[in-house]
Amino acid sequence: MSLQLRVHVPPHPLIQHWLGVARDASTPPPIFKSAMKELGRWLTYEAIRDWLPTEEIMVQTPLAPCSATMVNPDVPLVVVPILRAGLALLDGAQSLLPLASIYHLGLVRNEETLEVSCYLNKLPERLNPQTRVLITDPMLATGGSIMMAIAELTQRGIDPALTRIISVVAAPPALQKLGANYPNLTVYTAMIDEGLNSKGYIVPGLGDAGDRSFGT
Ligand code: PRP
Ligand code: URA
Repeated sequence: MSLQLRVHVPPHPLIQHWLGVARDASTPPPIFKSAMKELGRWLTYEAIRDWLPTEEIMVQTPLAPCSATMVNPDVPLVVVPILRAGLALLDGAQSLLPLASIYHLGLVRNEETLEVSCYLNKLPERLNPQTRVLITDPMLATGGSIMMAIAELTQRGIDPALTRIISVVAAPPALQKLGANYPNLTVYTAMIDEGLNSKGYIVPGLGDAGDRSFGT
């Protein structure tokens, strides 16, 4: 098994298009929210390609018996949206994974210190170690939030090798922390940006993803 963080930037025209819409400061909140939903959908589509478990069964077509590859409903699937902004990606992710359990995690950065605190944790005490987890968080900036999210999951038995993160914009500090601590994780992001400004915002980024998604 590879022990190097895998970061995929899918070269998909719809991902690029909706990223451009989200980046544009003149995009109003309802359109920003739609862009996030589309990014959630297409990033999930890419992320689950070799992750969603399947099984071979026989079906009967109108003409003959035939083998079919189906989604295996017995392998546990979980989506963890990091509130608030991760909720905007959830709609698109959930449309592709209707059988997944959704466990909300509310994390917020202190605007001055950038320290992360948890205000809502709906994760169960233990999770089956075979569970596939998809984390939705549009911004990976300093990495404080995603590191806390993964710590909460691994404490409950989750295997990082079965965990995927979808983000819209990822910055090097977050990717470095993830790579150093969880080398067998996989990240799907629409873009890797240059870095952070003095307030911990990704540059060029797209601004405050939570405020822009919810018009606050
Ligand atoms: C944003 C974003 C990420 C986090 C990333 O959340 O949604 O969760 O910042 O930053 P980090 O990598 O430096 O931790 P925020 O704390 O602004 O809360 P919100 O989603 O409610 O706006
Ligand atoms: N959170 C955001 O919403 N935007 C950033 O650029 C960084 C963290």
